[in-house]
Amino acid sequence: KDARINGIKDQIRVVPNFPKPGIMFQDITTLLLKPKEFKDTIDMFVERYKGKNISVVAGIEARGFIFGPPIALAIGAKFVPLRKPKKLPGKVISEEYILEYGTDCLEMHVGAVEPEERALVVDDLIATGGTLCAAINLLERVGAEVVECACVIELPDLKGRERLNGKPLYVLVESH
Ligand code: PRP
Ligand code: MG
Repeated sequence: KDARINGIKDQIRVVPNFPKPGIMFQDITTLLLKPKEFKDTIDMFVERYKGKNISVVAGIEARGFIFGPPIALAIGAKFVPLRKPKKLPGKVISEEYILEYGTDCLEMHVGAVEPEERALVVDDLIATGGTLCAAINLLERVGAEVVECACVIELPDLKGRERLNGKPLYVLVESH
């Protein structure tokens, strides 16, 4: 196993009972305070995806906007933000997904991604997988090929991986 993983994991702060009782919040802001481990995080993704002919990195609001752009720049891909509703000014396509209570939605600008493009989806964390599933659907609806989803952290107990319709998922850190 890569020696950088433990260093990255050690910099993620786990905050019990935030934002609600029973939730163990995975706080990546502490990782961002450490240039060495933050860079290791980006480097590990870049090493995996460079030379893989990925033309677009799609980052999920909000924390996918932190990790996605440096990966995109390093592999020579464009960056496309997948945003929460009513944030994007152009024509959008929308994909709703289920939360514990109610639904949420991701939107993408029409024309940002062309058919046949090879896409990487980036977020900080996969929990139930609903968010990544919506992101995959948006990209596939415009004819892109989702090569892989990449997250810093997985909560494997929630089995979010099983909601990705067989799409490969790469994570650096598992948290139980
Ligand atoms: C968190 C996290 C992922 C998502 C994972 O984002 O950053 O995007 O939840 O959950 P899931 O796998 O169960 O869908 P959140 O929606 O809290 O918003 P934020 O990134 O804007 O803070
Ligand atoms: Mg998020």
